[in-house]
Amino acid sequence: MWKGRFAKETAELVQQFGESISYDWRLYKHDIAGSIAHARAQVQIGLLTDEEFSAIEAGLREIEADIDAGKFEFKTSLEDIHMNIEAELTKRIGAPGAKLHTARSRNDQVATDTRLYCRAEIDHLTGSISHLQGALLDRAEKYAATVLPAYTHLQRGQPVTVGHHLLAYVEMLQRDKSRLADCRKRLNVSPLGSGALAGSTINLDRHAVSEELGFEGVTTNSMDAVADRDYIAELIFAISLCGVHLSRLSEDLVLWTSAEFSFVSLSDAHTTGSSLMPQKKNPDVCEITRGKTGRLLGNLVAILTAIKGLPLTYNRDLQEDKEPLFDSIDTLSLSLAVNAEMIFAMEFREDKCLAAASDPMLLATDLADWLVKQGIPFRHAHELVGKAVAEAVSTGTPLDKLDLSKIDAAYTSDAQSVFNLQTALAARTNPGAPSVDNVKREIERWKTTI
Ligand code: ARG
Repeated sequence: MWKGRFAKETAELVQQFGESISYDWRLYKHDIAGSIAHARAQVQIGLLTDEEFSAIEAGLREIEADIDAGKFEFKTSLEDIHMNIEAELTKRIGAPGAKLHTARSRNDQVATDTRLYCRAEIDHLTGSISHLQGALLDRAEKYAATVLPAYTHLQRGQPVTVGHHLLAYVEMLQRDKSRLADCRKRLNVSPLGSGALAGSTINLDRHAVSEELGFEGVTTNSMDAVADRDYIAELIFAISLCGVHLSRLSEDLVLWTSAEFSFVSLSDAHTTGSSLMPQKKNPDVCEITRGKTGRLLGNLVAILTAIKGLPLTYNRDLQEDKEPLFDSIDTLSLSLAVNAEMIFAMEFREDKCLAAASDPMLLATDLADWLVKQGIPFRHAHELVGKAVAEAVSTGTPLDKLDLSKIDAAYTSDAQSVFNLQTALAARTNPGAPSVDNVKREIERWKTTI
């Protein structure tokens, strides 16, 4: 492509070192769409005839079909997807192929391709996140009224329902989708026409090209346009955070499937055994999901580090943007799919959940609230309940079996009424709180939202 200035071939090792075709081949559809739009703009200003355009378009479509069919031979010597396609086009159609690259650089070309690629992948990931939300919602509905202890510091805190707990993850995933949508909006502008860095003396209609490619506008600074990889960093971040959410869900499930909790049983199809210990049923999907989050975070550090020391404008370091990007997309995409399948099939052991949630200590806060309703200031009420808890612990008496009147006269016989799980849950009616009615209403809302 640049032989005019060079007397020697690129060294074999340099080709091996610098090639990106082994991974950037997957941009081919976007590269071809971009080239067709670019060629059409050349027709508009008389640089290509209609016939030349038709030859270019047909040639590119043939190449696309060959790549689709796995019949295209990618060459490492042609470095990347852009040069592989252009060289093959010229080989197939001759002279018009050599006109295609007018007023274009691989710098604006690769920026265009990756923006189009990210846009399509965001749409795909968004669908996969919705599918996982659907799985969580399905289980939340089945176990909307199943009581469960909720924890802080992994110590029992207060009663909630399984439905409420699972809906917390639906919330996180909704924010993940909104972050993706936000990233999509910002990346959806066309860099094509920015050239290598300073546009071109040949003025193609950038707006027409942008419109053909479904962009919402054009970039407004040619130097920024070829140097910018914010959209890749943003997308990898949005993916990382979604991965972090899946990792937290995984950790809940690892705990819940342990004999110590026994709240959940996963399907045999989504667990594995041990080659030595015959009794084992391991939550590998959860653990692998949690483990793969490490790669996502690594990819985020990789892209930010690749960009951080670069002067304007394009530097070859930027070629390092693609592998972390592709890996993050692949990793999250598979994690979402396998987790959705596993969650659709997961069962809660309601007897175990109820037994754990029946610990009267979970209602210590409710007892303090009861004292407050009798006119006791909260700080004092907290202390009075603390005394009752200390008594329960030191005498080994369940909190609801203590004679509270011996602790303080403020405890009338009515105080005992606090120790009813169902009324305790039903009282939590504030927006966002876990009463069964609230949870059911939330489930209905989510059904029309996700
Ligand atoms: N394969 C390159 C990349 O991914 C394309 C752009 C190359 N531009 C250049 N001036 N060498 O970044």
